[in-house]
Amino acid sequence: MRLEDILFSQGFGTRRVCAGLVQQGYVQVKGETITDSGEFFELEDLHFNVQGTEWPFKEHAYVLLNKPAGTECSQKPSTWPSIYTLLPAPLRQRPQKAAVQGVQAVGRLDQDTTGLLLLTDDGKFIHKMSSPKHHVPKVYEVTTKHPITPDMVDKLLSGVVLDDDPKPVKAAACEALGELHLRLTLTEGKYHQVKRMLAAVGNRVEALHRSQIGGLVLDDLAPGQWRWLTDADLALLKP
Ligand code: URA
Repeated sequence: MRLEDILFSQGFGTRRVCAGLVQQGYVQVKGETITDSGEFFELEDLHFNVQGTEWPFKEHAYVLLNKPAGTECSQKPSTWPSIYTLLPAPLRQRPQKAAVQGVQAVGRLDQDTTGLLLLTDDGKFIHKMSSPKHHVPKVYEVTTKHPITPDMVDKLLSGVVLDDDPKPVKAAACEALGELHLRLTLTEGKYHQVKRMLAAVGNRVEALHRSQIGGLVLDDLAPGQWRWLTDADLALLKP
C-alpha cells in the first residue's frame, strides 16, 4: 500500500494531510525517513514512526483503557470529560464506512466507574462482545456503603428484580471479599446494572471498578492509560 494511504487508513488525517506529513520528512519506516508519499510498503508487521511516535499498522484497532473516575464514555459528554480525550488523535480519527469515526467503546461504564474498557473500530467485535447471546462474563469489584450479608450474596446469585424489568437478573458469581467489598460477575450489561442490583438487596454502591472481561484481566496500567490489545489478549476475550 502507498505510504500516504497507509497513514490515512491509520487515522493520521485526510490523504492530503498524510501526503504532507511524508513530504515534510515527518515519517520514518525502519529508521529511514521517507519523503515520497507514494512509496509502497508491505503491510505485514509494518511499523512506522510519525513525528517521533512509533505506530504499528493494524487493519483494525483493538485497545484497552483503564478508565479513570470522572469521565464519560460518550463522544459528546454532558458533564465530565470524554474518555476519547485520553486517546491519541489517530485512534479517534481512523476512517470508517459508518458515520462515526475512530474507535468506539465496547459498552459503556458510568462516569464514576473505573477500570477495564475495550475500544475498537471493528463493528463485528463490538456486536459479538455486547450481544447477550454470547454471555461474555464481566467482573466488577464493588465497594458498598453497608456491610454485605450472606443473605445479600444469596439474593444476588439467585436473582433480583430490577424496577423496569419483570425478569429477575442474577450474578454469574458473587463473593464477599470483605465487610464492604464484593466481587460480582455479570454476563449481561443492563443500564446501571450493578448499582441497581445492589440497591435491590438493600445496599448501595460506593465505588465500582471493572477488573476483568472474559479471560482478560486489567493489568497494572495506570488510570487514564491505554494500550494495544495483543493477539493473546484477544484470544482471552473469545466468547
Ligand atoms: N453497572 C453499573 O451500575 N455501572 C457500570 O458502570 C457498570 C455496571
